[in-house]
Amino acid sequence: MPSTIRVDVHLQADDLARALRDDVFLGLGERPRTLPPKWFYDDRGSELFDLITRLPEYYPTRCEREILEREAAKIAARSGADTLVELGSGTSEKTRILLDAFELTSQLRRFIPFDVSEQTLVDASQAIAAEHPGLDVHAVVGDFERHLPKLPTGGRRMVAFLGGTIGNMDPLQRKAFLSDLRAGLAPGDSLLLGTDLVKDPARLVPAYDDAAGVTAEFNRNVLHVMNHRLGADFAPDRFAHVALWNATEEWIEMRLRSLDDQTVSIPTLGMSIDIEAGEEIRTEISAKFRLAKVARELDATGFELDSWWTDSAGDFALSLAFVR
Ligand code: SAH
Ligand code: TRP
Repeated sequence: MPSTIRVDVHLQADDLARALRDDVFLGLGERPRTLPPKWFYDDRGSELFDLITRLPEYYPTRCEREILEREAAKIAARSGADTLVELGSGTSEKTRILLDAFELTSQLRRFIPFDVSEQTLVDASQAIAAEHPGLDVHAVVGDFERHLPKLPTGGRRMVAFLGGTIGNMDPLQRKAFLSDLRAGLAPGDSLLLGTDLVKDPARLVPAYDDAAGVTAEFNRNVLHVMNHRLGADFAPDRFAHVALWNATEEWIEMRLRSLDDQTVSIPTLGMSIDIEAGEEIRTEISAKFRLAKVARELDATGFELDSWWTDSAGDFALSLAFVR
């Protein structure tokens, strides 16, 4: 039986443009200045992230893959799912391990990848449909902080949220996100969550500040996105990439530090901003977790932790939780 592919787009170009304008207006207007991370992922940003996942310093992807290779069959069986949803799916590269495990059990009917980055999503959907005859691929272009209610319903669903992407939200955003997700799920549905774990900052920091400078390019890409989409005139090479470990919050912070006094104009927003030498724009956090924190946050939002697996080095964890 041939596969079917369908793509739902909940982020039209004008909607995307409006959301970017709002985020940039608010974020660059506050102190410290901030920019939300979803804007990293235009086509070039998605390509740069793909390079990050292959860097020697960036251990999370390899660790999560190790867990999936070891546990995928168990996860597929335990979930009992006939529908696999993947949030922030990107290239869905590691997800193929899950899809292969599901194929052996013949239980999976549908795969629903969901991402803001349309081209990456469509490419991945086509590749996966070709690899899995009979699988219905229903891709959704949207923002998982706004469009979870648009997720297709029906069947028994397992929602995979991999890569430690949940760590890119702050605690309040995580709570809202998990509650929204839970609200749309039914008894028997489950969440497969990837979380990076607290460890020695001597290993954490290089994962976000690699020797080859790929992460620095990725961080600066958000400035290119504002130049392209808002007609801004940021000079990306006048900003240094900064990654530091916040030991109190247990998260990595990524910033862009201005190398000199500069004035940037953003005509679409009628904005002109003076940035002083040394001033930093916060672009991203990447929170690191411990078992107790994951269990507590899941419990507080209506999930019950069922299984917890780490890689052999104990660097990264996958948890499976069912709706309560
Ligand atoms: N799951 C992949 C990719 C992780 S990178 C992995 O584990 O390697 C984070 C992914 O989430 C990117 O593909 C990005 O486009 C997507 N993303 C980031 N913010 C998003 C948002 N608000 N809504 C939907 N997708 C988002
Ligand atoms: N979810 C990834 C993480 O937190 C995203 C990421 C990796 C990232 N490297 C980055 C985001 C550098 C911004 C900048 O590990």
